[in-house]
Amino acid sequence: MISGGAGYIGTHTAVELVGAGFGVVIIDDFSNSDAAAVEGVRRITGVDVPFEQVDTCNEEALRAVFRKYEFDSVIHFAAFKAVGESVSEPLKYYRNNLASFMNICALMREFGRPNILFSSSATVYGEPDALPVTEQSPRQPATSPYGNTKQMAEDILRDCCAAYDGLRGIALRYFNPVGAHPSALIGELPRGVPQNLVPYITQTAAGIRECLSVFGSDYPTPDGTCLRDYIDIVDLARAHVAAVKRMTGGRMKAGYEIFNVGTGRPVSVLELVEGFEKANGLKLNYKIVGRRAGDVPAVWADTDLANRELGWKAERSLEETLRSAWAWEKHVRGME
Ligand code: WQD
Repeated sequence: MISGGAGYIGTHTAVELVGAGFGVVIIDDFSNSDAAAVEGVRRITGVDVPFEQVDTCNEEALRAVFRKYEFDSVIHFAAFKAVGESVSEPLKYYRNNLASFMNICALMREFGRPNILFSSSATVYGEPDALPVTEQSPRQPATSPYGNTKQMAEDILRDCCAAYDGLRGIALRYFNPVGAHPSALIGELPRGVPQNLVPYITQTAAGIRECLSVFGSDYPTPDGTCLRDYIDIVDLARAHVAAVKRMTGGRMKAGYEIFNVGTGRPVSVLELVEGFEKANGLKLNYKIVGRRAGDVPAVWADTDLANRELGWKAERSLEETLRSAWAWEKHVRGME
């Protein structure tokens, strides 16, 4: 069962799971996605993937899904994820992100379903003391309620797996998910003004945004702009398949495990902008402005543990990824 499965990462994960031969049921409340995303999954896979419109905060409605479907694993994506909004609306974030996850854990236990895969984030590392970041790197105090809900949910999963026999869990800490499915039938569809870099770039290229603002070029990095680990969404989805196989295949070495999911390749904002222009043969309208509050200068993953233990490695090139992002934007805007 994929909660939040109509979302950006959920849809791509559903496609890869079906492609790997898994049966999948998607649940979503459409608070930040829509039915077209589920149709995209069905068109790509050729499978009429079951869907239930459910708010995972509604325990009774969620229990009905557990009664209806015999899944042994859950991938929990359903959460609010706008960092800025979480600062102005902390209760909305704590209630939604934590109550939903506690419902998932409680019902997995109630129905004797063993495997919980949690969608976590590199945001738990804050501003790392050392780079690249490993799974042993210390979590820093969260800089937003959103980031705090990720840390708290990891702790909930850790403690449930330790306390309740038969429950086991994996947390995947994503770095920066980017790109879209090669079919251009599913992709990232942020509502309102995009906060993240790549959707803002593609909307600028599409003429929806006037100009991309590059937030700061005075950081202690090679070209002065922030470094991030941009992980292709299809590679990221495949990491989830590898994690589910690890759990269902009985290959876990502890009741609760954590893996970084990244490329291990730091890329600066300007490198990404220039890479987008080159990959797509266009010029982007951008300007350098002041820093954005809360941005860390550099963060990227040490991917050795996931490579070794999950047998998974990011494969798509940044060029392919940036081309897929643009193809998706053109599809969404009818600019084929
Ligand atoms: C990347 C870089 C910006 C927009 C966030 C969340 C994190 C995770 C991934 C959920 C930074 C710069 C951005 C723009 C810019 N989400 N930028 N102009 O901040 O690394 O991570 O998304 O888990 O939790 O914090 O990603 O894409 O917002 O920014 O210059 O219009 O691009 O300053 O250096 P970030 P981002």
